Amino acid sequence: MIQLKDITKVYKTKNVETPALNGISLEIEDGSWVAVMGTSGSGKSTLLNIIGCMDKPTAGEYYLDDEAVHEASDSALHDIRKRKISFIFQGFALMNQYTIFENVELPLKIKNVPAKKRKKLVLEALDSVGIKEQASKKPSEVSGGQQQRCAIARALASENNIILADEPTGALDAKTGKEVMEILKGLHEMGKTIIMVTHDKNIAAYAERIICIEDGRIV
Ligand SMILES: Nc1ncnc2c1ncn2[C@@H]1O[C@H](COP(=O)(O)OP(=O)(O)O)[C@@H](O)[C@H]1O
Ligand SMILES: [Mg+2]
Repeated sequence: MIQLKDITKVYKTKNVETPALNGISLEIEDGSWVAVMGTSGSGKSTLLNIIGCMDKPTAGEYYLDDEAVHEASDSALHDIRKRKISFIFQGFALMNQYTIFENVELPLKIKNVPAKKRKKLVLEALDSVGIKEQASKKPSEVSGGQQQRCAIARALASENNIILADEPTGALDAKTGKEVMEILKGLHEMGKTIIMVTHDKNIAAYAERIICIEDGRIV
């Protein structure tokens, strides 16, 4: 379970302080599917990054399965992320020097999963998103939809329970976007917690709950 209590985030650069989150309190149950909506600059990505342990709040409390994330050291934060969280980034964030197979395998290597089990998990994940035949290709050699499927397979293979997606269909045409949403639906049915940022009402409609953010506040 994710519990945020009065989370604030202020980005500090040389001369400017930018408040991005202004007191977010939120509970997200395991296995739920949440969409985060709001205009550009409202704080959606910042919220996702904090939930994803990529960044720490300036103030407030964040408990993930009763672990106090706001008090965690950087290395503890990294460890929590590795064990519990998968990201599906807009623009896919795949590494082009690696094959599709290797991209999906990478988080498992980081987790020290043995080679034989890695291979099994990767092939299962690629199969379940329908791109097993593309395993030995580089991301640049497959379509945008297949790249996004690869990003989802990577999240799937890691066996982490929380999946965070920032505009998961933002770079896709309507048909491919719908296919990707159907795959996310499958992950939800498997019991994963999904939190996704989207501008698109049709995409948000897949979620069980929609959270709207304005100026760093839930409205
Ligand atoms: N790394 C950063 N450094 C400084 N300001 C940032 C940074 N990231 C985001 N911001 C600012 O924080 C606010 C919220 O940004 P963001 O969370 O990216 O919004 P959204 O994802 O809803 O478009 C914006 O005003 C943005 O300019
Ligand atoms: Mg954003």
